[in-house]
Amino acid sequence: MRKPVIAGNWKMYKLLGEAVETALALKPLVANTNHCEVIIAPVFTALKMVCDRLEGSNIKVAAQDCAAEIKHGAFTGEVCADMIKDVGCSHIIIGHSERREFYGETDRTVNLKTKACLHYGLTAIVCIGEMLPDREVGNAEKVVKIQLLGALDGLTVSDMERIIIAYEPVWAIGTGKTAMPEQAQEMHSSIRQVLTETQGKNIAEAVRILYGGSVKPDNVKDLMNQPDIDGALVGGASLDAQIFAQIINYK
Ligand code: 13P
Repeated sequence: MRKPVIAGNWKMYKLLGEAVETALALKPLVANTNHCEVIIAPVFTALKMVCDRLEGSNIKVAAQDCAAEIKHGAFTGEVCADMIKDVGCSHIIIGHSERREFYGETDRTVNLKTKACLHYGLTAIVCIGEMLPDREVGNAEKVVKIQLLGALDGLTVSDMERIIIAYEPVWAIGTGKTAMPEQAQEMHSSIRQVLTETQGKNIAEAVRILYGGSVKPDNVKDLMNQPDIDGALVGGASLDAQIFAQIINYK
């Protein structure tokens, strides 16, 4: 049985005080939530305080990116995965489509960052997903497969225990256009098939594959009912504690 994961990606929203306020508002709303893991990903500047204030709760904290480098050094502006662990985070989102689109992330950097994250014992939430033109010409599965193989290149069987995949079709992010549950299921199943072929059946059956792209309280249940959808990576609707709690407590 794969335990579902509902993660909130707060992107570049919320000043420190707002992030702490939202995290503290969420805490009692999910205090009795056992059916899924709950994760929030605030901006870097809020990570330490959010982690401190959530200590002992069932909400885990993720960073939204990390450096590809494993060793500390002269890399202005970068944050090493162990620094993220040091402030109390357990997860890192890697290769989000916004990072690929606006900041030049490639399958190669996603692979290096994933390895850096795993090197320090954190769990990587690896994002993959096609753009609209890929889907329109029937290339969605192919594009996603290339991203997946690129991200996971060189990982060991034990590494795979700390990998979560997030399938986020770029055309569904922030647009209000969710993939139809069946459409998402088809892609999730194809991702699991690629995992079976490359990592073996046991690993493929254990890896959680989250869906992301306009997940809301009114569509989460249908998505979660699909056999290969193991959770959600939520953007806009995770910014409000009440709304995010409705998504988390979808059951
Ligand atoms: P939205 O839920 O706002 O579409 O964002 C999805 C996303 O990018 C999560 O990482």
